[in-house]
Amino acid sequence: MAELDKDVIAKAYARWAPIYDLVFGAVFDRGRQASIAAAERIGGRILEVGVGTGLSLPDYSWSNRLIGVDLSAPMLRKAKARVAEHRLTNVDGLAVMDAQHLGFQDAVFDVIVAQYVITAVPDPEATLDEFARVVKPGGEIILVNHLGAERGLRAACEQWFAPLARRLGWRPEFRWERLANWAARHGGVCVVERRPMPPLGHFSLIRFARVGALHT
Ligand SMILES: C[S@@+](CC[C@H](N)C(=O)[O-])C[C@H]1O[C@@H](n2cnc3c(N)ncnc32)[C@H](O)[C@@H]1O
Repeated sequence: MAELDKDVIAKAYARWAPIYDLVFGAVFDRGRQASIAAAERIGGRILEVGVGTGLSLPDYSWSNRLIGVDLSAPMLRKAKARVAEHRLTNVDGLAVMDAQHLGFQDAVFDVIVAQYVITAVPDPEATLDEFARVVKPGGEIILVNHLGAERGLRAACEQWFAPLARRLGWRPEFRWERLANWAARHGGVCVVERRPMPPLGHFSLIRFARVGALHT
């Protein structure tokens, strides 16, 4: 099946931007809160990739320094308005940036958070490599995301829906196995946690710890 195309994703999120908070605000909130809580156990310099309209930004504690990046300028404009409205002085910057090509030096963040993003990027494994590059050894990569069912009716429905979902910037059939294989191949990360999340437990909170020397 064809992978996602970055221009298709950018166009899809330009369309979602005006109604994103209404449609996806409350329904995804438990996952956002869980990933923020996990990030704050480490704290420090936090990079939120695919920050979108910045729904999660007001919920981080003031002691952390935050940077948010997103492919979509219309989504990011909303995030900028939110930062101004809430006077979030702990947000050091918001920038249009591709998750797969982060404009940061190696090992500069304590935590990378990506909420509902990893299945929206064209190359999830290359994007995870990039997360592992910019996070410090001892830091964590924290994802919250829908994961496809391994088998059964849900798996069949997800496969059936996948071609249409591509046009919305989604990849419903994306399975845990891909993330586990990436971690095993990378060698500089280990899986710390995989916890089911609402809605319906079809989502997961996933934590990878960055270990050892820098991966090249
Ligand atoms: C489902 S939204 C999630 C937004 C936010 N994290 C939340 O919890 O509501 C996915 C976000 O990922 C962004 N995105 C998709 N592909 C991206 C990429 N290659 N680089 C950076 N951001 C990307 C989209 O523009 C969109 O804002």
